[in-house]
Amino acid sequence: MENTIRRIGILTSGGDAPGMNAAIRAVVRAAIHHGVECVGIRRGFTGLINGDFITMNATSVSGISRRGGTILYSARSEEFRTELGQEKAVATCKMLGLDGIVGIGGDGTFRGLHDLAQRGIAVIGIPGTIDNDIACSSYTIGFDTACNTALDATDKLQDTMQSHERCSVVEVMGHNAGHLALNVGMGCGATAVLIPEKEVDLDRDVIEPIRDARLIGRTHFMIIVAEGVGDSYEIAKKIHDTTALDVRVTVLGHVQRGGAPTSRDRVAATYMGYNAVKLLLEGKTDRVVCMQNNDYVDFDITEALSMKKGIDEQAYIVLRDLSSVN
Ligand code: F6P
Repeated sequence: MENTIRRIGILTSGGDAPGMNAAIRAVVRAAIHHGVECVGIRRGFTGLINGDFITMNATSVSGISRRGGTILYSARSEEFRTELGQEKAVATCKMLGLDGIVGIGGDGTFRGLHDLAQRGIAVIGIPGTIDNDIACSSYTIGFDTACNTALDATDKLQDTMQSHERCSVVEVMGHNAGHLALNVGMGCGATAVLIPEKEVDLDRDVIEPIRDARLIGRTHFMIIVAEGVGDSYEIAKKIHDTTALDVRVTVLGHVQRGGAPTSRDRVAATYMGYNAVKLLLEGKTDRVVCMQNNDYVDFDITEALSMKKGIDEQAYIVLRDLSSVN
């Protein structure tokens, strides 16, 4: 089939994630490799509506793989949810002569891409979010870096908690999902991990594990709370009131979204960016690049959005079994 793709646009949207720059580089370089021009759309769908773009070439993406954030900026666009916003975005695509758009982000980004596809623009999505909550993909760009950033923080906290024989309640991001919390909890050997996918009973899930840990001589405790669970300060108060432990709360917040991407994120981002361009060249649209069984495949966006990602039940069991030994 003759390649009808001559110029594409690339954008990042929603919450940024470490590794997005590596994906941008891969998209731009893959496009150039195939003789396709690439235009950078700045500030996600807002930029598409406003015609906010920069032309990109091989050198404009030199050395960006190691940098966190996104050189194209990111935003969440209310206007794009409206008919008028989408019409303006399509007009920009026409004005710029774009034959396709690659969008990097989470489910909100994919919804936006699907809206464009409905209006005749070829689109491919790349999962980029620290939440790892895209069901069709076992991995999303940024997750590994965010886990490592959070672990760096919990390691430091464990030092001071040990000195003062305290209990640390650490709130990690994840939106409505507990993947980040579960991974961080396992990595730091937490006494307990609370995630929104599991009904929370503070006596059973936190107080009892703390008692068990005390019985084997532990004097400091690490409780990881996914932000989707609720108020970490209330959880801390309950722990203090019930156990008399000195409790400190640390909300890690946006620090988890920054920093140089890990090897895992750079590599996944590079493969995904490269494959996204290939899909456009093959005439595919309305699809998302994803990882399944360590392989990069593609998936229909609507189907992808209708799927719900469960947590790693095995990890949850292992974590609980290891923290309730006495
Ligand atoms: O989706 C990524 C994420 O960092 C979530 O974990 C978090 O709930 C949200 O974005 C925070 O969004 P904002 O950057 O708009 O505060």
